[in-house]
Amino acid sequence: MNAPWEHPANREMIERDLAVLWHPCTQMKDHEALPPIPVRRGDGVWLEDFAGQRYLDAVSSWWVNLFGHANPRINAAVRDQLDTLEHVILAGFGHAPAIELAEQLAALTPPGLTRCFYADNGSAAVEVALKMSFHYWRNVGRQKKQRFVALENSYHGETLGALAVGSVPLYRETYGPLLLDVMSAPSPDAYTREPGESWAECAERRFAAMEALLAEHHEELCAVIIEPLVQCAGGMRMHHPVYLERLRDACDRYEVHLIADEIAVGFGRTGTLFACEQAGITPDFMCLSKGLTAGYLPLSAVMTTDEIYAAFYDDYTRLSAFLHSHSYTGNPLACRVALATLEIFAEDDVLEHNRELARLMGEACAPLADHPHVAEVRQTGMVLAIEMVRDKASREPFPWQERRGRRVYRHALEQEVLLRPLGDVVYLMPPYVITPEQITEVVRVAAEGIDIATRD
Ligand SMILES: Cc1ncc(COP(=O)(O)O)c(C=O)c1O
Repeated sequence: MNAPWEHPANREMIERDLAVLWHPCTQMKDHEALPPIPVRRGDGVWLEDFAGQRYLDAVSSWWVNLFGHANPRINAAVRDQLDTLEHVILAGFGHAPAIELAEQLAALTPPGLTRCFYADNGSAAVEVALKMSFHYWRNVGRQKKQRFVALENSYHGETLGALAVGSVPLYRETYGPLLLDVMSAPSPDAYTREPGESWAECAERRFAAMEALLAEHHEELCAVIIEPLVQCAGGMRMHHPVYLERLRDACDRYEVHLIADEIAVGFGRTGTLFACEQAGITPDFMCLSKGLTAGYLPLSAVMTTDEIYAAFYDDYTRLSAFLHSHSYTGNPLACRVALATLEIFAEDDVLEHNRELARLMGEACAPLADHPHVAEVRQTGMVLAIEMVRDKASREPFPWQERRGRRVYRHALEQEVLLRPLGDVVYLMPPYVITPEQITEVVRVAAEGIDIATRD
């Protein structure tokens, strides 16, 4: 098969694209060798380019898509909403989709999360949670509480507050002078466990450092922020739910908020509707986005408790109201899409179906654990990751400059699959409408890509 960028119909769009667009998270010079693929339409798990070549979207277009592209049920909801109300200011006004969605999220998220504050993307939700936590402590007279704790290897978005609580070294170094001074605790990442140690033991051991940090600094701390169960952008690194149990308990003891960033892991990715369920905990703030609208429209929500809400509820002249807004906060089209998404969860027994898909993904990828350049195949629900390394025994990584993951990406595109490794971590995070046959095909292409990428 020809490389997609060689086809004339794609070529023309690529030239126009490169003349005007600046793509996200991209060294644009890379496009000299590997141009962006112009997509003409989507259908289910498939994306189609201008030459009619298809790509199976095995990464759910940055982890947002749940029920396929151009899903007829969600499309119908958007069309209906378009003829009714496209947008309205959410300050001083409300509308049915925002109200119904907040009601449903309050019912579906862990007990106690009764209040819904909307924003319009994941990073904005993280900003809201950080500001709300800080402002809560200020409103209740605990002005010394001004700092946050984040985990090593975490990612919470790329606006300045969200970036500050993330730890991607490249970003931290580049934008460091602009960022809040955040405390860092070791990640419970099970990939880094000692030989013979279980995931749970690793989580318990790592928690000791968090406990010590909270014990020493709790009086100046607003909140701990965590990606429950899977640190996605950090290479799909996973941990045992016992860490979340311990963290909830310690946050209660030390009077520090717990912010669960479920932007990537929420809505069924980890096997339960929300990852926090697997630890039986309720965070003080839960950030939701991505799957909230099944990959259709930008929307995010921060769910929080009556107790937090009450600390902001007062006479205007006390100036204690929460100060945050975005023009498109709670957009009706996006809220309606989210309602259609939740309807699919309710009608189709999605989580049960996903259990079977996850089992098939695990089964198909299991042989890769024996590959001479694979250190680990790990899985949490519908997230499966394959860690490529130079040396299997010592787990020594390939030099990052070799960009082995990119070779997998390129090979997969030529085989009609969209895989987008994070460094040298190849992962599958497909839409929930993928079929068993498609899983087999994606894994075949991934395995072939890993072979090619680790040769020489
Ligand atoms: C855990 C987590 N938090 C926050 C974000 C940021 O979301 P957005 O890209 O919508 O700003 C992401 C995006 O990948 C994420 O994975």
